[in-house]
Amino acid sequence: MYIQNKCVNSKVCLNLKNVSKKYLQTHSNKLHTVLENINIQIFEGEFVTIVGKSGCGKSTLLNLIAGFENFYDGEILLNGNPIKDTSPERMMMFQEVALFPWLTTFQNIEIALKLAKISKDQREQIVMHYLDTVGLSDYSRSYIHQLSGGMKQRVALARALSLNPKILLMDEPFAALDISIKISLYKELLDLHKKTRKTILFVTHNINEAVLLGDRVIVMSPLLYGIKKEYVIDIPKDQRNDNSIIKNIITQITADLYDNI
Ligand SMILES: Nc1ncnc2c1ncn2[C@@H]1O[C@H](COP(=O)(O)OP(=O)(O)OP(=O)(O)O)[C@@H](O)[C@H]1O
Ligand SMILES: [Mg+2]
Repeated sequence: MYIQNKCVNSKVCLNLKNVSKKYLQTHSNKLHTVLENINIQIFEGEFVTIVGKSGCGKSTLLNLIAGFENFYDGEILLNGNPIKDTSPERMMMFQEVALFPWLTTFQNIEIALKLAKISKDQREQIVMHYLDTVGLSDYSRSYIHQLSGGMKQRVALARALSLNPKILLMDEPFAALDISIKISLYKELLDLHKKTRKTILFVTHNINEAVLLGDRVIVMSPLLYGIKKEYVIDIPKDQRNDNSIIKNIITQITADLYDNI
């Protein structure tokens, strides 16, 4: 429940304090600001979506949180501890499926657990549990090329979940999929969020997707090098289709994205 944009009954999970990021532009040899003084608090169990024009820094933000980039200003804290490197606590899912085509579905998930030094018996149990969670138990022996795009993203989701992350970072995970597959994955992701209460940070270009899935939507702007607005969506997720308040929020976010600020 939110009161004045604060999620009560919840601890802060992720805390970004004055985070700024610049990249060196190779063609001009100048530093190019992408993010400037970003402040975000994400609460435990919250599902936050991020929208913004191409190039506004959405992936950069996720990459900093994932620990892929170590040079930035400000602080990023997970449960109060500074983020220094990549970690299974923060699992990333990308738009392009990042699976190994020469391994089976089972092996693709198992490999992450092997790296985490989890015993063989436990691995078997964990892999089958998460394959079941994403509805793919019957495909454990299939190779990745034998799966559809939606199924591949489910394997990636099962793999991310199998390491029991504190936060799931999703960078346009459904962008390349057909609308009917997307709709079934929305439902699965929401069911999964309800069941596991994982903290999720989900980047998308699709405003409808952001508003249907998020407890809160963050709108980013390239001109501000950061956050333009936030919308808390206090409507149960199973009541968002064909809802006039939701339609209104979609219209407002669309205007936010196209008013050149
Ligand atoms: N490794 C890098 N080196 C230099 N510049 C980079 C690097 N990564 C991103 N950038 C620049 O940072 C800016 C933001 O990129 P980013 O990928 O975060 O945008 P985005 O909002 O995710 O865009 P899209 O919606 O197209 O995915 C862009 O101008 C991009 O060129
Ligand atoms: Mg991106």
